Amino acid sequence: MCGIVGVLGQHEVAPILVEALKRLEYRGYDSAGIATVRTGGTLDRRRATGKLIELSDLLVHDPLPGKSGIGHTRWATHGAPTVGNAHPHQAGPVAVVHNGIIENFRELRVDLARDGYAFSTDTDTETIALVVQRLLDQQVPPIEAAKRAIAELEGAFALCLLFAGEEDLLIAARRGSPLALGHGDGEMFVGSDAIALSPLTNRITYLEEGDLAVMTRQGAEIFDQDGAPAHRDTRILQLDSTWIEKGGHKYYMAKEMSEQPSVIGDTLRFYMGDGDAGITLPGELDFTDLDRVTIVACGTAYYAGLTAKYWFEKLARLPVEVDIASEFRYREPPLPQKSLAIFVSQSGETADTLAALRYVAGTGGKIASVVNVPESSIARESNVVLPTQAGVEIGVASTKAFTCQLTVLALLALKAAQQRGTLTDEELRQHAANLRALPGAMNQALALAPEIAALANELADARDVLFLGRGVMYPTALEGALKLKEISYIHAEGYASGELKHGPIALIDPNVPVVVLAPRDALFEKTVSNMQEVMARQGKVILVSDSAGLDSAREGVWKWIRMPEIDPVFSPILYALPVQQLAYHTAVAKGTDVDQPRNLAKSVTVE
Ligand code: AGP
Repeated sequence: MCGIVGVLGQHEVAPILVEALKRLEYRGYDSAGIATVRTGGTLDRRRATGKLIELSDLLVHDPLPGKSGIGHTRWATHGAPTVGNAHPHQAGPVAVVHNGIIENFRELRVDLARDGYAFSTDTDTETIALVVQRLLDQQVPPIEAAKRAIAELEGAFALCLLFAGEEDLLIAARRGSPLALGHGDGEMFVGSDAIALSPLTNRITYLEEGDLAVMTRQGAEIFDQDGAPAHRDTRILQLDSTWIEKGGHKYYMAKEMSEQPSVIGDTLRFYMGDGDAGITLPGELDFTDLDRVTIVACGTAYYAGLTAKYWFEKLARLPVEVDIASEFRYREPPLPQKSLAIFVSQSGETADTLAALRYVAGTGGKIASVVNVPESSIARESNVVLPTQAGVEIGVASTKAFTCQLTVLALLALKAAQQRGTLTDEELRQHAANLRALPGAMNQALALAPEIAALANELADARDVLFLGRGVMYPTALEGALKLKEISYIHAEGYASGELKHGPIALIDPNVPVVVLAPRDALFEKTVSNMQEVMARQGKVILVSDSAGLDSAREGVWKWIRMPEIDPVFSPILYALPVQQLAYHTAVAKGTDVDQPRNLAKSVTVE
């Protein structure tokens, strides 16, 4: 949930560190800081609360020289977001930046206090610096001190250490949180992900679980979790910098919503090509004899899994269980022999999802993952990786990654149906054609932005909003509520519309807008009945439907959004767009920070 970066450069590193941190700010942004070792060996820091701009301003007035340095942008886990708790933390001649949680930091603090070491912060990270300092005080050399200190730590972390007097040394280590090394010309870099390093180099080495890297400007010596020298491949990444820029949009979220028609098209082509060759998976998956599929994820990715349940069960007649990762990992459910576990994750680094995957791996289960980062930890620990083609997603609220996840899962359900013979070739061809129609329909849906923006201006004053959906649209109602909550801070709940009369209808009054997501499908009339129950109690209904639906049911609704016609089976992929836009324009109307909403971070790498 934090971003870390380190540079052994040929030039002053402060501006380079800040630029790299800007590309990591989506991982956390309640405080930031850098530390450098300047010529002569002095180790010094600058830190500030709030967004990175605060640190930049500080550096203008109080520059920090040095060609070796580390940096950090924080999402607070232990200790309030104050300057004192901001990273880098320093203890004597060593400074550290850290992403993750040191689970035994309290025991270490007791031990350190007994040895006379004092604390100046509430953070677990300071403990790392003090454990290293204690070893340095015992005349243990920096590299050995780092190795021994890291061996004392328990928990998940990615960290980077910088030492006074050591202008050509950085030590990086990962256990549970991602870390990438970047190779420059006479320079070396390290960052939480390759995005941070993309302006500096495209030569990237991903550290593996338990690795420790001793870095100098000449390169890196890597040691595995047993302390043995290890080789890790260096790859050339094509990270197109336009993916990082906002492309003329005010927010990354707006840019990423607008990219959906093209990235859905890219995803469809990745799996279906341009002809009628059917669906090709990038790995061996056989659904023929499976008794069950288990889908595990968090947040929006979990709603993608819930949607996929309807597709697998309807199209492939294959039972599916969908679980929230943070529940699944501790419930440790028994899994049938003939089952497949699918993990859905945009970042591929979500701690709970990774832990759930490792539980299944421990049982010997087959693992597939739907990820947007093919080099991520979840991808690397899967038997089969099913990449989305969404491209880098910076906005904390997931949009294009979500619709790409849905598209991959829809293709997977069709593949399963083909293998299990539950659909005829003609039916399969028709479903594939309906998926291919999505990019065009999405372009039409995006064109609804002006009327949704006008509607959102009225929604911005709401205190509570309900989202209703039936059948395959129910998870989209949950997603719509999450989108609105996470970027506009308005309380919202998603419900299966049939559930309304079992309690939630008590919430209905003229101040509670109710968004009804209802393409004209087999359940449409049922949903209309629920909608009328709402209107009978002065509820304000926003009906999101197609022309057939609106023409038969828009009488008396407060507002409506006319969606393009598509086959209802895959309507969740299309109807994700109006709920994204509703949340986005409401947040803009309220003036909240759309890309970096309060209290959130893009990648939840702590549990
Ligand atoms: C999405 O809008 C949310 N920001 C969040 O729920 C996210 O989907 C969740 O944290 C899972 O992240 P992942 O897909 O990277 O695993």
